Amino acid sequence: MTEASLSPQITVIGGGSIGVAFAVLFARAGNAVRVYEPDAQRQQAVPLEVGTRLADLHSYDLLTEPADAIADRVRVHASLSDAVADADLVQECVPEDVQIKRTLFSSLAELTRAECIIASSTSFIPSSTSAEQTGVEERTLVAHPGNPPYAIPVIELVPNPQTRPEIVQRAEKIYRQAGMSPVRVRQEVEGFVFNRLQGAILREAYALVRDGVASVEDIDTVVRDGLGRRWAFMGPFETVDLNTRGGIAAHAQKMGPFYERMGRERGDTSSWDPELVGRVEAQRRELLDLQDWEDRVAWRDQQLLTRLQFAAHHTSKENS
Ligand SMILES: NC(=O)c1ccc[n+]([C@@H]2O[C@H](COP(=O)([O-])OP(=O)(O)OC[C@H]3O[C@@H](n4cnc5c(N)ncnc54)[C@H](O)[C@@H]3O)[C@@H](O)[C@H]2O)c1
Repeated sequence: MTEASLSPQITVIGGGSIGVAFAVLFARAGNAVRVYEPDAQRQQAVPLEVGTRLADLHSYDLLTEPADAIADRVRVHASLSDAVADADLVQECVPEDVQIKRTLFSSLAELTRAECIIASSTSFIPSSTSAEQTGVEERTLVAHPGNPPYAIPVIELVPNPQTRPEIVQRAEKIYRQAGMSPVRVRQEVEGFVFNRLQGAILREAYALVRDGVASVEDIDTVVRDGLGRRWAFMGPFETVDLNTRGGIAAHAQKMGPFYERMGRERGDTSSWDPELVGRVEAQRRELLDLQDWEDRVAWRDQQLLTRLQFAAHHTSKENS
């Protein structure tokens, strides 16, 4: 990396939904960004979309410099070799098609510098598949964002068994510098963590609609006005840890049999056995001592009320 730690050169490949959003994210963080896009119409659209998204961020007071100055850091390229020549990190944002990704990675083996990180935005495809025998497997990892990444900070970093640890460390540093919240996924599984969790709830939601238990709108209401209220600021483990006096171990003991029966109804025979619950409990207790449980429950309630207050304020402003 030239000026490495200060301002790595970023190249985004594929100027669609995620590519444009990554360009905004990295440019806003001060990086020069090249976007390679083969489609002529998209080449025209990318700068316009970058401008619109930056204008949105500005209107929410989320920029620390003029939008034009940030937009100036983004350059669209019609030539892949020009776009990647001196890149420190390539963010691959091409369609979710293993063959398109494989062909691209084989080209990048020739066109990028040996130390360039290749990060795939893929939602499902592990890089041991997409980068296999392309010549870049040792410097490729998955870096899966939410959509859009400048508004959803988490990014899942998933190395393949050949990815060099130094590549993962450098990628993590670059995403942190760009304001993201990287999570390292320890094994390559299809869909990683984000889409596995999303998939679990979607599978059940489809089954409930199929069986006539609830409408699509009612299921979305249960998540939006129910589960999602807490998930806006904490995850499912912390949620149930705080729901039951005695924490997550007490929750698993009291509620586990109900959840296991519901799973069996859906053909899932896995159980929350005592060893597994014990491991989850031990990790939770490292994060929250049960002595502090009441305080954390009070914190949860304050978080909920803060959001209610914000919503009430904004709704009344919008209606006035
Ligand atoms: N959209 C999401 O919500 C989301 C979220 C996380 C990750 N992802 C992942 O990000 C990747 C991109 O998804 P998207 O929604 O931005 O797709 P998209 O269809 O909006 O954009 C893809 C872009 O890639 C371009 N392209 C096609 N072939 C190319 C090639 N060979 N080289 C370079 N560019 C090429 C297309 O012209 C298009 O502009 C996918 O792997 C997807 O799974 C998407």
